[in-house]
Amino acid sequence: MSVTIAVAKGRLAGVVFDRLEAAGFDCAAAREPGRKLVAEDASGALRFMLVKPADVPTYVDHGVADAGVAGKDTLLEENRPLYELADLGFGQCRLCIAGDPARHAQALRASVYRVATKYPRIAQTLYEQRGQPIEIIRLSGSVELAPLVGLSDVILDIVESGETLRANSLDILEEICPVSARLVVNPVALKTKTEEIRALIRALEI
Ligand code: PRP
Repeated sequence: MSVTIAVAKGRLAGVVFDRLEAAGFDCAAAREPGRKLVAEDASGALRFMLVKPADVPTYVDHGVADAGVAGKDTLLEENRPLYELADLGFGQCRLCIAGDPARHAQALRASVYRVATKYPRIAQTLYEQRGQPIEIIRLSGSVELAPLVGLSDVILDIVESGETLRANSLDILEEICPVSARLVVNPVALKTKTEEIRALIRALEI
């Protein structure tokens, strides 16, 4: 029985294929899929769905993919009932609140505190727990621009090297949690393809 894996196109996919190839799978077709969105390894044991990072949990939750590889940030934001079976260790970064410290201090005293983010659910939950009312400015990318142009007071975003923050004169104000790539599995698939999924975990954890 083959295992279908939803993989976030881009940085994470490259490492996934590296690890699977080190474990003996030939992922050449998945590495160079052209415009194709589904590819198999040479043995036919693995089938890859190449999707946007934020969509990985959706494919796994609906059971059209048995498993998926996504960042912890995406999993927190999507909040789907999936089994997170392994921290794969790569794709490490931090989920942070960042901004200009003086502006942040001023905003805390103002009536509206605006947070720009690609992660509205995480932001909502975090500030609700703190009892701090916020206005969420939902963006799809280039989030660091928002405080620079007065669209928000701070951002909630992932920081990897810190280069984007530095280039835009923003500081980390608070670290929320570490982020790395995780293997998530559909609960039904775990029952029906237990051995295949165990083999996949062994290959990815190399
Ligand atoms: C991510 C994130 C930051 C940046 C952090 O954006 O949203 O903007 O990377 O990385 P750094 O700390 O190494 O600079 P991404 O590159 O995914 O692009 P996006 O802005 O289009 O979301």
